[in-house]
Amino acid sequence: MDLTIVGCGYVGLALAERLQPRRPQLKLTLTTTNSERLEQLDPLADRVEVCDATNPMQLLAALRQSSSAVFCLGPKGDRQVDANGYRHTFVDSFRCLTSLLPQLRELRQIVYTGSCSIYGDAEGDWVDEQTPPAPSRGHGDVLLESEHLLSGISDRRVCILRLGALYGPGRDLDRRLRGLAGLERPGNGATYSNWLHVADAAGALEAALNAEWAGLVNVVNDEPIQLRDLVGRSLQRQGLAPVRWLGQDEPGSGGRRIRNTRLKQLGYQLQHPRLDQSGVLATSQVP
Ligand SMILES: NC(=O)c1ccc[n+]([C@@H]2O[C@H](COP(=O)([O-])OP(=O)(O)OC[C@H]3O[C@@H](n4cnc5c(N)ncnc54)[C@H](OP(=O)(O)O)[C@@H]3O)[C@@H](O)[C@H]2O)c1
Repeated sequence: MDLTIVGCGYVGLALAERLQPRRPQLKLTLTTTNSERLEQLDPLADRVEVCDATNPMQLLAALRQSSSAVFCLGPKGDRQVDANGYRHTFVDSFRCLTSLLPQLRELRQIVYTGSCSIYGDAEGDWVDEQTPPAPSRGHGDVLLESEHLLSGISDRRVCILRLGALYGPGRDLDRRLRGLAGLERPGNGATYSNWLHVADAAGALEAALNAEWAGLVNVVNDEPIQLRDLVGRSLQRQGLAPVRWLGQDEPGSGGRRIRNTRLKQLGYQLQHPRLDQSGVLATSQVP
């Protein structure tokens, strides 16, 4: 397999590292928009390309030799970007990709790490891949448009992995939640969130490539968790004072519980089925 990973942030880098034992049979191309990262990525790949996926020349160069591509894009920098910035990263990149497909005859397989936030709020109910997306306005619209652009590609195998909120080494939830110790918070903390260890994000991506998965697959652990339990467990583990929840949550803030049945039917076995099994809770996003 000749594979290009477009976007080597938290997930893309974890996948690249996971695939190292398969080299040199696997020909690996990695991309970054930042030339200062070339040195970091170079030992992990046969080729490292400076590539902004919205730039047709650069994206073409990055994908030209590959039979498979994984898109692990995210807006650059630590700041939250507005919906326009989000649109530029995702929609403009996938428009660029679709415009290049006639020149990319070798490219047979496209995998994209989307997000479970596309389901919007389901008032705490269970959702699966058959549930119509109901994303929030703005950022959520962008996720939906991105998925539509990719699902509309009919002459390649396209797989969209809808990831849960990521945690793992370097994205430490205990550290992030520590600041809530002893505080009063509005609502009752009943909102559900759904989590995924970065090792399982990389593992599911590798499985999707190997077994040529197609269509939508939710990639979350087995344990949707309410915010009060997430925070409560973390603070208790750290020996810190609990949060005092002050009332009732607003209507429409129940979150959703994501089913991972299809992921399992496809044969994927989670390395971290529950948050606590990793020892430490960790993440980039506190819901
Ligand atoms: N993080 C989460 O909790 C989470 C939850 C659910 C779903 N996801 C999905 O997974 C994706 C990846 O997440 P992540 O945490 O790995 O993100 P990340 O750490 O922010 O990495 C994304 C990388 O994409 C690259 N990039 C940004 N704009 C680009 C462009 N125009 N063209 C090419 N590359 C570009 C950047 O790398 P360089 O700076 O090297 O260019 C950036 O580091 C997310 O965007 C989302 O779709 C993430």
